[in-house]
Amino acid sequence: MSGAREKSDDVASPLLPGAQNSKPKAGSFSLKITVVGFAIILSTALAKGFSHFHDSGRELSTGVCPQVAELVPQKNGALWESLGSIYGTDKFKMRAVNWLGGAVRIPTESYDNMGPVGTDPRWEKFGALHDYLLASFPQVHSTLELTKVNTYGLIYVWKGSDTSIQPLLLAAHQDVVPVEPTTAKAWLHPPFSGYFDGEKVWGRGSLDDKSGLIGIMSSIETLLENNFQPRRTVVIASGFDEETSGLHGAQTLAPKLLEMFGEGGFAMLVDEGSGYGEQYGRVIATPGIGEKGYLDVLVEVASPGGHSSLPPPHTSIGILAELLVNYEKNPFEVHLTRGSPVYKTVQCLAQHAPDLPSALRKDILRAEHSDRALRAAEKKLFESRMLKSLAGTTQAIDLIQGGVKVNALPESVWAVINHRVSTESSIEATKARDTDLLRSLAVDFNLSYSAFGVGVSDTDAPAYGTLKLSEAYTHGLEPAPVTPTDESAVPWQLLSGTIKATYNSHRDIRGDDTVVISPGVMSGNTDTRYYWKLTEHIFRYGHQEGASGGALPSGVHTVNEAISIGNFVEIIRFFTTLILNVDESALP
Ligand SMILES: *[C@@H]1O[C@H](CO)[C@@H](O)[C@H](O)[C@H]1NC(C)=O
Ligand SMILES: [Zn+2]
Repeated sequence: MSGAREKSDDVASPLLPGAQNSKPKAGSFSLKITVVGFAIILSTALAKGFSHFHDSGRELSTGVCPQVAELVPQKNGALWESLGSIYGTDKFKMRAVNWLGGAVRIPTESYDNMGPVGTDPRWEKFGALHDYLLASFPQVHSTLELTKVNTYGLIYVWKGSDTSIQPLLLAAHQDVVPVEPTTAKAWLHPPFSGYFDGEKVWGRGSLDDKSGLIGIMSSIETLLENNFQPRRTVVIASGFDEETSGLHGAQTLAPKLLEMFGEGGFAMLVDEGSGYGEQYGRVIATPGIGEKGYLDVLVEVASPGGHSSLPPPHTSIGILAELLVNYEKNPFEVHLTRGSPVYKTVQCLAQHAPDLPSALRKDILRAEHSDRALRAAEKKLFESRMLKSLAGTTQAIDLIQGGVKVNALPESVWAVINHRVSTESSIEATKARDTDLLRSLAVDFNLSYSAFGVGVSDTDAPAYGTLKLSEAYTHGLEPAPVTPTDESAVPWQLLSGTIKATYNSHRDIRGDDTVVISPGVMSGNTDTRYYWKLTEHIFRYGHQEGASGGALPSGVHTVNEAISIGNFVEIIRFFTTLILNVDESALP
């Protein structure tokens, strides 16, 4: 993932006895699964008139943040059980260590401003990763059909027996953020060692996102070794510059996927994103159902130059400084909006997290019908900078330049404001707000003002200088369409049931202590920014531990990135369960 840099404490939850051990399931537990599974089949059969497919359409709880039951494969139940046992063995664990460690040892760093593939030699190491994938996953490569796009973009198609139903799309990126050479010494184990210390695999990419790419490959390799043949087609799409906006990778994969599968051609899409972790005393998984937008605004001020011995009252630098101070004095208003992804996230906390302060819980639950409670909840919740940032449009002055000589008046100066646009807002609204913000200062300083290609000043009178706002570097990115999570959103329920089945399958879960599934929102962007036309059911979820509610597991984008092998094997369980569940689903 790219963008967010918050860290979370990577501590095991007290609610998870034996969370790190893979142990065989107790008989009583299997029975429970079967009964729940049967109820699901029955309810779906009644609802849809199918008798041999299943979906987790049955809600176990009502009210806010309803939860579905775990969804365990039925038609492929025996296979799922036996794969579960295989995944619990030390032999498989070491296989997983080697699969992931080998991928980490290929330093597929992507840098800002890389030239096109074929001219910039820094792309060539992706060829080494492809060789590695070919050698490590022979079944995948002899069964799935591979198309390469722009040399290093990968599309694998695992053709299902029923081509009348829509495929599942799994996405993961091959590149990693570069390791700052000055920080190399701070790593406990070298960043591209893929070293296994008996508990964790270390190195850049071990979490972001080689755990995703290798997790998907390992699942499919194992499914193939166990003679699984899908009914529903499974497609893997893998970009190679997600960390630098996907311009060469996902941006070129998207039109190819559209050409191959058509608009709205996929049943659902799962890409990297959030995971699960403890929040207020409850383990919560937060698949990203939305992604904030992005806009860089270039603010340029120009005024007459001259010798600094005869200065005007305000130089261009002084004027720009005043404009920037005005920005920081006026952060975007942030509201908790009913129905927004962040609102859904906090509803889930209120409904399911025992350690949430009770006054706040009441306000959140009442907020559905009371504006006063909504405002009270908002006030309390937005004391958390992370939550406030997730909900609203942010602004950060990240670049500035001006002045060339100590005795010369600066003629032209500029700064860049980086915005992350709220899921409730838009690029247009963000531009309009910035334009308005500087209007009166432009008049005060007698500047002719244009914003995003349109003149703002009302007079043609001669001005002292100019103020110009424009999009810096690239075009803005609108907030992503929000993925449906309502009662009729079968893909959401299917993903939720899959996460629960995965989580429960090798833990000793008592009572209702399973993971809660909550809609989440991504502060950063993923390759899915290019995939909106492929399906409305886009989920950013990677099943990483310690990555819930906008937090990232420690080490992502910084030193000492590492993943516990228990977690990586669970990621393989997750993709396996997902593939089998989607295969059996009544989704069109
Ligand atoms: C604005 O600046 C121009 C050029 O220096 C000057 O002619 C004009 O009188 C100024 N207008 C105001 C309102 O200060
Ligand atoms: Zn990533």
